[in-house]
Amino acid sequence: MIRSFVRRNGRITPGQERALELLWPRYGVKSDGVLDLNTLFGRKAEKHLEIGFGMGDTLVTMAKSHPEHDYLGIDVYRPGTGHLLLQIESAQLTNVRVISGDVVDFLQDNLSTHCLDAVYLFFPDPWSKKRHHKRRLVQADFIKLLAQRMKSGAYFHLATDWENYAEQMLHVLETAPDFSKCVAPKRPLTKFEQRGLRLGHGVWDFFYQRSQIL
Ligand SMILES: C[S@@+](CC[C@H](N)C(=O)[O-])C[C@H]1O[C@@H](n2cnc3c(N)ncnc32)[C@H](O)[C@@H]1O
Repeated sequence: MIRSFVRRNGRITPGQERALELLWPRYGVKSDGVLDLNTLFGRKAEKHLEIGFGMGDTLVTMAKSHPEHDYLGIDVYRPGTGHLLLQIESAQLTNVRVISGDVVDFLQDNLSTHCLDAVYLFFPDPWSKKRHHKRRLVQADFIKLLAQRMKSGAYFHLATDWENYAEQMLHVLETAPDFSKCVAPKRPLTKFEQRGLRLGHGVWDFFYQRSQIL
């Protein structure tokens, strides 16, 4: 299977390493079997998923601004996961849970159908070389799987700073039967985005609504 990432052994700080060991049992999600999300968070509330949270800052900002929603964040990047766990602990957030793994596996194996109220995909790896485009997450099959996990009327917010990927996102979503385009709301600036802006990159945001499930 073609993955949308290569595992990076980025520098991990001792604090992040400790967080992965000590805080993971509190906020980490074990990925075995299909999850009951209300049981996982201990309440009934909207469930939002951020795919590829990077260092986790955007997820923490959203979770702080909306304590009435529950947030799942997934990434494969260990230093970022450690960093996110530290932030959850220091802000004493009770509405965030963390998954370490490939979102494709997570959607397939651990989520039930029509369980998500919102999905965020901010600055997925652009895989800029043409021969690597097959690694991009936003492709018809992935969007079909995602739609199966989203509720009627759920929102999907995507952003990229790579024009050619923006074109691909637009094409895939416009030809997907389950989504209709809406005006994108404001969102927090992400870490990756800030780097791109410093380099003079443009930013493209897309906001779609999951159509009614018949
Ligand atoms: C370019 S970074 C953007 C991070 C963050 N969203 C931001 O804007 O700062 C993309 C992130 O997606 C993660 N990622 C890529 N493919 C993934 C997958 N299949 N499942 C989970 N995370 C993935 C990478 O590890 C990386 O942290």
